[in-house]
Amino acid sequence: MDILRILIDFLKIYIPPMVANGIPVVVSKFIKGRPLDRGKYLSDGKRILGDGKTVEGTTFAILTGTLMGAIIGILNYYSLQYCFTGFLGSLGGILGDITKSFFKRRIGIERGGMLPLVDQLDFYLGSTLFIYLCPICAHPSLDVFLFGIIIIPLLHLSTNYIAFKLHLKSVPW
Ligand code: CTP
Ligand code: MG
Repeated sequence: MDILRILIDFLKIYIPPMVANGIPVVVSKFIKGRPLDRGKYLSDGKRILGDGKTVEGTTFAILTGTLMGAIIGILNYYSLQYCFTGFLGSLGGILGDITKSFFKRRIGIERGGMLPLVDQLDFYLGSTLFIYLCPICAHPSLDVFLFGIIIIPLLHLSTNYIAFKLHLKSVPW
């Protein structure tokens, strides 16, 4: 069935960035991370990124996402392609999230403030861009990508709500 093929392709490519995107929230509960921007401000009087983007969260995100890619690679007949896809998808995803925070600060949204759809799709677009720029990565077809555009915001909202209920996040988005 086509939808099953889309779902399997989607999971093989996007589980690593999805895990990478979720890990920092958990890490932040155990480690008080050091901000990536070292607490610095730009000339607009606002933080470069804010306290929500930390060295520890970012590092664990990339490591865990890459580990997920390695596991998916092993399960797919020791495919190095999925291993690279996991690494680049996680890296691109986390950079997408960081880039979003940079622009949120510029338009005056404080750390943790909501920016609908952008907050949900930042890592997805970042990871897709990086995967596409990598010639040896597994590329999602258009239907797989569009499936994600619909499913990711729903998944993101529900996991964030669960994280909020578990007191992992202070806001439900
Ligand atoms: N986090 C982190 N490092 C990252 C990304 C996230 O340590 N690179 C942690 C922070 O504790 C952050 C939490 O995960 O507060 C939730 O992530 P996110 O929603 O992306 O950050 P926000 O706090 O909402 O900050 P922003 O407004 O900049 O997106
Ligand atoms: Mg947020």
